[in-house]
Amino acid sequence: MSYCSLYPLMKKKGINLSAQDFQEKVNVIFHDCEAEVYDEMHADMNDSLQEQIDLLVEDLLGHCDVSKKQLRVLDVGCGTGMSSNFLMNSRLKPFIAHITLLDTSSRMLEVADRKAQLWNKEYSLFCGRMSQLSGKYDLVLVCSVLHHIPDLKQFLEEVRIITNPKGIFIHLQDPNVDSLNNENYKNRVKSYRSKDETKPLGRKIKNLLPKRYRSYINRLLGRKNYIDLINDKLIKDKVISSRLTADEIWSITDIHVGSLQDGTMKGISIDLLKGSLGNFTLINQRSYGFYGKLKADLDPEFKKKEQDLINENKLDGRNISGLWVKYK
Ligand SMILES: C[S@@+](CC[C@H](N)C(=O)[O-])C[C@H]1O[C@@H](n2cnc3c(N)ncnc32)[C@H](O)[C@@H]1O
Repeated sequence: MSYCSLYPLMKKKGINLSAQDFQEKVNVIFHDCEAEVYDEMHADMNDSLQEQIDLLVEDLLGHCDVSKKQLRVLDVGCGTGMSSNFLMNSRLKPFIAHITLLDTSSRMLEVADRKAQLWNKEYSLFCGRMSQLSGKYDLVLVCSVLHHIPDLKQFLEEVRIITNPKGIFIHLQDPNVDSLNNENYKNRVKSYRSKDETKPLGRKIKNLLPKRYRSYINRLLGRKNYIDLINDKLIKDKVISSRLTADEIWSITDIHVGSLQDGTMKGISIDLLKGSLGNFTLINQRSYGFYGKLKADLDPEFKKKEQDLINENKLDGRNISGLWVKYK
């Protein structure tokens, strides 16, 4: 995957920057503007991500003896510190000596700093990219980040370089490309949608809209819309000269997620990760979002079904996560 999906939009908007520069600038400004509203907008992730981290930590504790370890952890794309917070709530916390919170957005790091002060752990903040770090880490956490990374091969190579021998790599909340054409997954999503049809109209429309569009509409109706703030900043910094729609912005930032812009099916597969993480062993792979939504957004009946599929460790949900160890 390269930057080619951005070319039509860049041409339409008369962008003079390189595709890489353009993507990086939009990505940083987008997340700077999202920082203060991120936790509120993504509150539905709390249950699912805490559960996934807990499961992956159990996988890890079942596989490696970390009891005598004092792990140096790196959270790449830490955002507001949500992912590290889940790690701090998990059974791994006593074995963590130090955590580095890295993000390309300084505003995200400001929010993460506030959270980290409550962990009672040594931590440091780093605004920039993995390639700019000089140290090595025992555990690298990448949560809800891979879909923002145009050049996954390069990014995973950086994960490889920065991970200590016998070090651990945990990634989660990646859009699962393999499920998009999977009949079981498609039938499940259909069954959820048809059940949704029987709901009162207002609720039905609300549930049909992806969460981020709902947030967008809520913001249009009420508080200052953050898409406007992003456009204001992009224009001020001369990245664009005319405003982008919300969907255009997401097609740039969420480059591995299908958008209305290009209509293509995108996502990330475990095979792609295996290809790039040659000297890592996949200890366990997990999945969730079996009905195309996170648990918090499902009715009790489907919540139960989602839970059963998670417990059975089925792998054909909307999202994938994985635990890897660098053995070679
Ligand atoms: C969707 S948020 C996820 C935040 C957090 N990990 C969580 O799970 O809540 C993605 C974060 O990755 C950051 N990011 C995007 N590209 C990055 C890169 N190349 N290097 C480091 N951080 C990046 C963004 O600024 C943003 O804060």
